[in-house]
Amino acid sequence: MFPFLVSKNMKVSLSSGYEMPLLAFGTFKIEQNEADQAILSAIQTGYRHIDCASFYLNEEHIGESIANAINSGAVAREELFIATKAWPTQYRDIRSACINSLRRLKLEYLDLYILHWPLAVKSNLEDPPVFTPSADNYKIFDRYPLHLAWKQMEELVKEGLVRSIGVSNWTVGLLNDLLSYATIPPVCNQFETHAYYQRKALIEFCNLNNVIPMGYNVILKPPNNPYYHYNETALEDPAVIQIAEKMQKTPAQVLIKWNLQRRCGCVVKSITPSRIQENWQSQFFDLAEEDMNTINSFTKHGVFLDPSKMFGIALND
Ligand SMILES: NC(=O)c1ccc[n+]([C@@H]2O[C@H](COP(=O)([O-])OP(=O)(O)OC[C@H]3O[C@@H](n4cnc5c(N)ncnc54)[C@H](OP(=O)(O)O)[C@@H]3O)[C@@H](O)[C@H]2O)c1
Repeated sequence: MFPFLVSKNMKVSLSSGYEMPLLAFGTFKIEQNEADQAILSAIQTGYRHIDCASFYLNEEHIGESIANAINSGAVAREELFIATKAWPTQYRDIRSACINSLRRLKLEYLDLYILHWPLAVKSNLEDPPVFTPSADNYKIFDRYPLHLAWKQMEELVKEGLVRSIGVSNWTVGLLNDLLSYATIPPVCNQFETHAYYQRKALIEFCNLNNVIPMGYNVILKPPNNPYYHYNETALEDPAVIQIAEKMQKTPAQVLIKWNLQRRCGCVVKSITPSRIQENWQSQFFDLAEEDMNTINSFTKHGVFLDPSKMFGIALND
């Protein structure tokens, strides 16, 4: 399936030499009172890749819960693959951002550090960064070049603070540019993709260049809040429901598997133990070619996390 798939348990070999599980556990919106149960449940289920970000403002709690899981003997640090991200307001001093994330997460190294969005935004020096999505945010753009941000990321690898570095929400053009100057290439690109926003060219470009594509919002039913700007979810698509019924799976399992089977990793979040299990089980069945083709041919198109509403610029175009 993936040219660089190294084992049946869905790990891929990265250009950095490390291995990364393709199904990651997301932590956006996990609250302090939910973190312990969610993290322990995910680890007990089998997740090893945990996806965090300074922007989520919960690294402290997630770090505490990871430490609790390690101390309880549920998992060893070396078995985990922990990722977090620098926010655009942090790009002028990525080393400080990384050290602050490491402190909050209670870690000595990160398995993966990611540039969250392909632009720099003026810093108000808050760390973790508090950022309100707004179409007016173009007014606080910082014309700091991304190649300088990437150079700082490379320094973190050389210093041993992080093992692999990657990007998020990069387009084909930006990735192509990054690959032209990176001395340590990005191991992954994490971006929104789902059955109603398929991004086939981006996934193909990533796979051709050994940059692992990692999809987010694969199963999202967007809540009514300022982050989300499209509210149709493929979880409720009649064709997805029909495939799920035929396979005796759930719509979420079909959508996660569809994404994995088209050679794209997934970051999925749940605080509900039964759903954490359900999502994990998506790895262990195959969709028939005709069912893959049915979903591949969906024509609905909608972006949940529209960057033009977040930053005032259509970064995905
Ligand atoms: N790089 C980026 O810019 C970026 C942007 C967004 C997200 N992310 C990462 O990607 C992760 C996933 O994105 P997301 O959390 O926004 O969306 P998601 O994982 O696609 O969807 C999460 C939502 O789906 C629900 N859910 C989980 N499993 C389900 C199931 N089996 N059936 C029905 N509903 C289910 C969850 O509810 P419960 O929790 O109540 O079970 C939650 O409301 C994030 O947590 C974050 O780590 C990255």
